[in-house]
Amino acid sequence: MYLEEIYRTTTSGVTLLLCAFALLLLALRGRQRGPGCSFPPGPRPWPLVGNLFQIGEQIHLSLTNLRVQYGDVFQMQMGSLVVVVLSGYSTIKEALVRQGEAFAGRPDLFTFSAVANGTSMTFSEKYGEAWVLHKKICRNALRTFSQAEPRDSSASCLLEERICTEAMEMVEALKEQGEKVGDSGLDPVKLLVTSVANVVCTLCFGKRYAHNDKEFLTIVHINNEVLRLFAAGNLADFFPIFRYLPSPSLRKMVQYIGRMNSFMERNIREHLVTFDRNCIRDITDALIAMCEDRQEDEETAMLSNSQIVHSVIDIFGAGFDTIITGLQWSLLYLIKFPDIQAKILQEIDNQVGMNRFPQFKDKPNMPYTEAFIFEVFRHASYMPFTIPHCTTENITLNGYFIPKDTCVFINQYQVNHDMDIWGDPEAFRPERFLTLSGHLNKNVTEKVMIFGMGIRRCLGDSFARLEMFVFLTTLLHRLHIENIPGQELDLSSTFGLTMKPRPFRIKISPRN
Ligand code: HEM
Repeated sequence: MYLEEIYRTTTSGVTLLLCAFALLLLALRGRQRGPGCSFPPGPRPWPLVGNLFQIGEQIHLSLTNLRVQYGDVFQMQMGSLVVVVLSGYSTIKEALVRQGEAFAGRPDLFTFSAVANGTSMTFSEKYGEAWVLHKKICRNALRTFSQAEPRDSSASCLLEERICTEAMEMVEALKEQGEKVGDSGLDPVKLLVTSVANVVCTLCFGKRYAHNDKEFLTIVHINNEVLRLFAAGNLADFFPIFRYLPSPSLRKMVQYIGRMNSFMERNIREHLVTFDRNCIRDITDALIAMCEDRQEDEETAMLSNSQIVHSVIDIFGAGFDTIITGLQWSLLYLIKFPDIQAKILQEIDNQVGMNRFPQFKDKPNMPYTEAFIFEVFRHASYMPFTIPHCTTENITLNGYFIPKDTCVFINQYQVNHDMDIWGDPEAFRPERFLTLSGHLNKNVTEKVMIFGMGIRRCLGDSFARLEMFVFLTTLLHRLHIENIPGQELDLSSTFGLTMKPRPFRIKISPRN
């Protein structure tokens, strides 16, 4: 009887304690999530590592598969970092456009601060008034210089002059080398790299480099390596302990960033010494002039001189690898699908003819070529994710609560391969972007996700589209390209911030 009483008292004590604990948890959950909202679902994390080792190397494919099970908003644990993954065109639009400010931050990742050193608009700044101004300055600098008067041609603007000149040089170099190698073909990457990087280099620093310039090739290589290492996701981002342990890849990245920064700094210093406000030569000069004027301008006083001048690094750093990769993929699709190449050639012959080279003004009149570029963006999805975002406040999306400062991945690859949007996403079919009358269908093209969306949308999207258009059409205008005998063309790629195709060779011959 006595024992029974003790047992009853103890049990009710324990039950009471459990009830109190459960109530406390509920109260805490309620306070964190807001009434009626739960955290996003997601795969069960393993102790310590979370879901890091469950997602494999092809992260875009794994996360696209997980969406089937968990929906458009799900959550994962990467080491100590919680990541919310967004998929689905309307969900992403809801987040990045309708609730844009809440998703406009960048996470405080270790690699971001290593790359950015506190001055970058792209990587390091918290979203707010100063950041909005910084992006405006970058946009204006890029736009003003792109649209400036051409220096010595009849082009419509400086950007067109630069792009057409570099495209023609590239074609000449490809023709020359193509003739030398004959049927064994060549890997086009090296020539593409210098030509495309020269466009942005002339706009930023007013100078271009020869195809075999060692210093320039090294800088371009380093820029690509930084992007690759950075995209591979560094363990130090997920496990803070790795920041204090020796890591070869981290050391390499820091070394690369140091060399890259000294190239940029050297160019900026040269500009400071030779600066003449009556002769603004390039984007760097325009930014220096802005710093000189800032005493009178209260708005720009929010940013330091260093932040303003370093905007050129944001533009230079983002301005070529993405375009080179797009061109690499385009060439691969062109030799894989000769019938598609023939349709583009037809359009070039009809619209441009043989008496002049392609120009910006031709683009709106060549819907099939534009559709081809959209289909390359969609099918290759070579930027499978945007740069990671971060929430700037507590927010609810699709009924799920996402706390402030949560890292957010945007799965562009999933949108570009969504069966509900595209029907046959695995087929390469430029026609899907054309109306019955052969015009570009804007309702369909706007569903392609490659430049992000909303406040953090890429700054160079129209620049990039124009450059890709002119490089491709100039090349096809003068040269015939085809696969080399016996080469198996593989459309798979390895994961990265920008996913490159596997190396391939092309056979080149003059068109006439
Ligand atoms: C086909 C070529 C290109 C592709 C596919 C591309 C794609 C992207 C993507 C996905 C982002 C991240 C958006 C986000 O975080 O939500 C981005 C950001 C950015 N891009 Fe591009 N880009 C291209 C070319 C360029 C060019 C040519 C420039 C400049 C000349 C440029 C400048 C930038 C800048 C400055 C940002 C950072 C924007 C921010 O953080 O708010 N991009 N780009």
